[in-house]
Amino acid sequence: MTTAAAQVNAPAYVKNTRLIAWVAEMAALTQPKDIYWCDGTTEEYDRLCAQLVAAGSFKKLNPELRPNSYLAITDPSDVARVEDRTFICSDRKEDAGPTNNWCEPAEMRAKLQTGEGALFKGCMKGRTMYVVPFSMGPLGSNIAHIGVELSDSAYVAVNMKLMTRMGKGVIDVLGTDGEFVPCMHTVGAPLEAGQKDTAWPCNPTVKYIVHYPATREIWSYGSGYGGNALLGKKCFALRIASTMGREQGWLAEHMLLLGVTNPQGQKFHVAAAFPSACGKTNFSMLIPPEGYNGWKVTTIGDDIAWIKPGADGKLYAINPEAGYFGVAPGTNTLTNLNCMNSLHRDVIFTNVALTDDGDVWWESMTDTPPAHLIDWQGKDWTPQIAKETGAKAAHPNARFTVAATNNPALDPEWDNPAGVAIDAFIFGGRRSTTVPLVTEARDWTEGVYMAATMGSETTAAAFGAQGVVRRDPFAMLPFMGYNMSDYFQHWLNVGAKLQAAGHKVPPVYCVNWFRKGADGKFVWPGYGENMRVLEWILGRIGGTAKGTENAFGLSPNYEDINWHGLNFSKEQFQSVIGVDKAAWTQELKLHEELFQQLSYHLPAEMPATKAKIEQRLAA
Ligand code: OXD
Ligand code: MN
Repeated sequence: MTTAAAQVNAPAYVKNTRLIAWVAEMAALTQPKDIYWCDGTTEEYDRLCAQLVAAGSFKKLNPELRPNSYLAITDPSDVARVEDRTFICSDRKEDAGPTNNWCEPAEMRAKLQTGEGALFKGCMKGRTMYVVPFSMGPLGSNIAHIGVELSDSAYVAVNMKLMTRMGKGVIDVLGTDGEFVPCMHTVGAPLEAGQKDTAWPCNPTVKYIVHYPATREIWSYGSGYGGNALLGKKCFALRIASTMGREQGWLAEHMLLLGVTNPQGQKFHVAAAFPSACGKTNFSMLIPPEGYNGWKVTTIGDDIAWIKPGADGKLYAINPEAGYFGVAPGTNTLTNLNCMNSLHRDVIFTNVALTDDGDVWWESMTDTPPAHLIDWQGKDWTPQIAKETGAKAAHPNARFTVAATNNPALDPEWDNPAGVAIDAFIFGGRRSTTVPLVTEARDWTEGVYMAATMGSETTAAAFGAQGVVRRDPFAMLPFMGYNMSDYFQHWLNVGAKLQAAGHKVPPVYCVNWFRKGADGKFVWPGYGENMRVLEWILGRIGGTAKGTENAFGLSPNYEDINWHGLNFSKEQFQSVIGVDKAAWTQELKLHEELFQQLSYHLPAEMPATKAKIEQRLAA
């Protein structure tokens, strides 16, 4: 072992000098009590989980009911992504754009690393620094990329084991001089000598989630939760990867990937973007309703897709992740049976409720709640208490972490290093009014317009007010690593390049499962019934399904959808598919507001497409 490697406790198989030097530099900055290199073995996972149990951070669930599974409860200040504390530190403010928080890189570095009292100085005192090497995408795939996260949280290390390909195999691929994205993470709670730790260490008042696109670095301070702390996910696979994709001609997207096979055995692959907590996991694991004999939906990914043009002019996609960090409340055997069947064992639950027999529960998991629970804040919970106080048993953003291999509907191609060829793109927001159930874009540009102007009602996945409509272009608002208008241009360019070379681009659809009736209830049944929309989309690709053009695109008529086995009237259909002139006139004003905000580098195709919609509405 070289002196440098010995200094940072690196195992003999670590040969990458840049990695060793970086770990040494970061250890000098953060001053952990020791350094541990994760090898990614099951033995290590079990040991770290046992350590978390001993520390009171994990509760081991009843092994007879939920084998090899744990419950973590967070600090109440640390329950969701912190969008207002997330920064894109590009050299120029314009390159972060108006949808991102920006700070001059030198100023941010002074605050985090170099200045007097910089937050990372000594931030790991009294804690272990875990070195977590991970691959986003199958090991060695030419679409995959490697990251190394340094974290003082064992919770992060075990979650990364489930969410990514993590451990020694990654170090082997890195070799002596392989490239990696450095990801620094601390909970921001150093321990003085003799100071007792808390069950969920974090910094309740100071949080920073920082990205430097030019040097492809991530620095996360103060939170141990989800996308704030599992840096392979939103920080790397979306924010940093989007900037890499822009430079290299590919796309990093907030999209699920599913395979759908028809009774003739023909298989299609669909990529679908929805904002956080809008049903991506459910859609990716959809079970076709009764009557859909011979149809099968299989999951490639539930949250993120990396998409690259292949030599044959098709767009190939991989799921860079290896697990699911999904929203628990609302998940049950009716809404997502495949998901429930994925969660029987080997799961880390965060912020759900604990049953008296040592299992978990969350809102709507069963029709009848248990008579007594310990809620996510450690308090007694009964249906009566909930009625009187409105207390939730599980936090609305409570999550499960589980390996993809637990999913009974996992697509056989999910781990294929070459990826799968995309046949259609879907974009969908959560809108109780205005936006039709499904609309096909007339061409790539109109598809980019639909995605760019998408609005959605906010959810508990991020801190802040909920249920407020905000523009969420491509479902990427919280995850864009550069200027949003440049990103629209990048999408236009990817399509234009393929078409100029004589290739067809996948058709683009806009969907909305969430329109509500006068009674305030969802009209469309959603979940498995979304298969009917998917079937129509595949029929359009195959040239068999019909529809009618409207101002916004092309939507099915009542008779163009397969209603077998579902009682859904023409009137109900009209109320989810209709394009209301007054509502759309108002909607276009909101598109205009977005375009005003994004005027710097906004592609001319955006206002031009809007003008065409206006003309059609006026006709
Ligand atoms: C997620 C999110 O965790 O989008 O996937 O918030
Ligand atoms: Mn997501």
